[in-house]
Amino acid sequence: MLKALFFTIVLAGSPATEDKDLKLNESNVKEIVNAMTVEEKCELIVGGRAEMFKPKAYKKVKAPGAAGVINEIPRLGVPATVLADGPAGVRIRPHRPGDDRTFFCTGFPIGSLISSTWNTEMVEEAGRTMGSEAKEYGVDVLLTPGINIHRNPLCGRNFEYYSEDPLLSGKIAASMINGIQSNNVGTSLKHYAANNQETNRLVNNSIVSERALREIYLRGFEIAVKESQPWTIMSSYNYINGEHASQSYRLLTEILRDEWGFEGVVVSDWGAGYDEAAQVAAGNDLLQPGYDYNYHNLLNAVQSGKLSMEDLDRSVERILRLALKTNRYQGYEYSEAPDLAANAEASRKIAEEGIILLENDDKSLPIATDRKIALFGVTSYDFIAGGTGSGDVHRPYVVDLKQGLDAAGYSLDEDVKAFYEEYMADEKMRCDRINGDNGWQIDRERAIEVTHKELIEKAALTADCAVITFGRVFGEGKDRNYYYSYLLSEDEQRLLETVSKAFHKQGKKVNVILNIGGLVDVYSWKDMADAILLCWLPGQEGGNAVASVLSGKVNPSGHLPSTISKDYWEEPSAGNFPILYADKPFNYSFYRQLDGRVRDLIKNIDYTNYEEGIYVGYRYFNTFRKKAIAYPFGHGLSYTDFGFDQMGVEEAEGGWKVQVRVTNKGEVAGKDVVQLYVKAPRKGLDKPERELKGFAKTPVLAPGESYVAEIFISKESLASFDEAAEAWRLEPGTYTFIAAQNSLDNSQKTKVHIR
Ligand code: GLC
Repeated sequence: MLKALFFTIVLAGSPATEDKDLKLNESNVKEIVNAMTVEEKCELIVGGRAEMFKPKAYKKVKAPGAAGVINEIPRLGVPATVLADGPAGVRIRPHRPGDDRTFFCTGFPIGSLISSTWNTEMVEEAGRTMGSEAKEYGVDVLLTPGINIHRNPLCGRNFEYYSEDPLLSGKIAASMINGIQSNNVGTSLKHYAANNQETNRLVNNSIVSERALREIYLRGFEIAVKESQPWTIMSSYNYINGEHASQSYRLLTEILRDEWGFEGVVVSDWGAGYDEAAQVAAGNDLLQPGYDYNYHNLLNAVQSGKLSMEDLDRSVERILRLALKTNRYQGYEYSEAPDLAANAEASRKIAEEGIILLENDDKSLPIATDRKIALFGVTSYDFIAGGTGSGDVHRPYVVDLKQGLDAAGYSLDEDVKAFYEEYMADEKMRCDRINGDNGWQIDRERAIEVTHKELIEKAALTADCAVITFGRVFGEGKDRNYYYSYLLSEDEQRLLETVSKAFHKQGKKVNVILNIGGLVDVYSWKDMADAILLCWLPGQEGGNAVASVLSGKVNPSGHLPSTISKDYWEEPSAGNFPILYADKPFNYSFYRQLDGRVRDLIKNIDYTNYEEGIYVGYRYFNTFRKKAIAYPFGHGLSYTDFGFDQMGVEEAEGGWKVQVRVTNKGEVAGKDVVQLYVKAPRKGLDKPERELKGFAKTPVLAPGESYVAEIFISKESLASFDEAAEAWRLEPGTYTFIAAQNSLDNSQKTKVHIR
């Protein structure tokens, strides 16, 4: 016994080598692994702890406010690695004690707006900008993009995510990743996988069919991995069919690495999982932010033989190879002073590109800048730039819609403006709770709208039109409430009704702006508005971006990344989502104890049944409930009109090259999106009415100008996952290729026969 104890101490305590010159480089990674003690290996795998426990460590790497660090090993030349959020920009603290500099970061638009651009080139460009800012702030890995599917409109984190469709999600993500990583800054594609609700997220068990998993919830990750090789993938909080995502060998090794060829590091979500040995053995290499108990459990697992040294070394090697890629390893002297003015312009540019014109009756928009606008709605004067939680950003400023309209040269009805400025001053406490820089505030109230009838009727006489903004902000850690978040409230409806009646009585237009993080009910009130503009949460330049579109300086070219149904209860997942709890005051994320037990007591809390299978979003509505669609997936109007013709398909290596000519048939320049859907034959497997298999955004086309869009459709992308065969299967038959402007449109069609 004594001998064994002595041996253990020797094994554990002394470095395998005292070679002082042994420092990490590209060619000696395995040597470094062998030179490390088991403690050093465990410390590398377990993050550098949360900042609240190790503030000095964050100060040392000059990244106060970053989400996590990977420990350094100075004796072996292994640098620390800094991980910071998030999808809408770098999240670090803007002020540091004893330092009179500031460290604000550019607030980009939220993920749902980014995907609404359908513009992979511009997304990559925005990624380059976001990555350059991360680089200058010394961030080595930016914890973005989040691409969980918009399974239900009430998920609190949909704002960070891209779409109900995996192809759009995957292509946009790949562009974002390539853009960011072009700066030698890593990314973290998240949250892998089927993490589609916030309620009880640490323990909730997603019960998903294999086919839905493969075709819907994993597909976007597959596309992004194959087209961009993110430096890291973040495994998610939830269980999938009874197995914790961060402890699933099948998910993290067999599918992610063996099938898709992922070469990077898998990092846990913060505090996720409950069995460190199982996590590392499954292929979850890094545990963030890292807690002392993680370290001791991992060390004990290795010393007891529960976790093999081989598995431990495999993760250590992956983390070392990640460190080798970082600017920090390369010795880059980051400035901590990025060009925030230039980056603000980039944020505004992509915000303008992702704004969606949902409705524009009788050409209510654009509004000439010499017109007088009566500006209603609290949010018009307190614009919401982004969502809450880790996806928040400490921005230098936010341009409200009022400021944007002023800058664009509009005159505003002074009485209405004065009313709101006084009201907002009275309501400042509430407004700050809703939209202040409160960082991580799980839930936000909603502004209370006041209807001042006389003021509205007077404005209807003096102003040329009305603009009303409705706002919704929410975020990580909590799902949305159907009643006060999805529906317009009584005070909002009263305001809209009164403005609509007064201005329509004068033959004047009413334009509604939706400054929201996730979809809301539109169908029940849309007839009271002449135009509806969905600007999502458009980042710090939001007011300027919206004003550019309202004035026609920018012709809107955003398209819906998810379906807007006529009624929440028409949603295929309506009954399988925890909306009944979302009105409770506290955060359900930590509702259940994370103790390894998979509970099956409370539906939509302990477990959530993805009963709709592959029929998510337009896949469901197009196949079963077309009449329930208010605005279809892919919908987006323009101030001009486009026509498609001359569709052609030719066989190419591994698939088909599709060409469609797009012509601007209107009077103003603009961009359009060619959406390429495929109707597959229904043989052995049931199929959705159609599925998006490619898309292309045109450049700006002048009136009368044409452009031939080219889209490649891979043969493998037409296969369906056959659960019985546990394999992808491309069924023979006739496939209809549809070039469309939204998921209900059939502008151009052609057929392809597969034997
Ligand atoms: C959070 C989020 C994740 C984020 C991480 C670090 O809980 O789920 O998206 O990147 O922790 O803040």
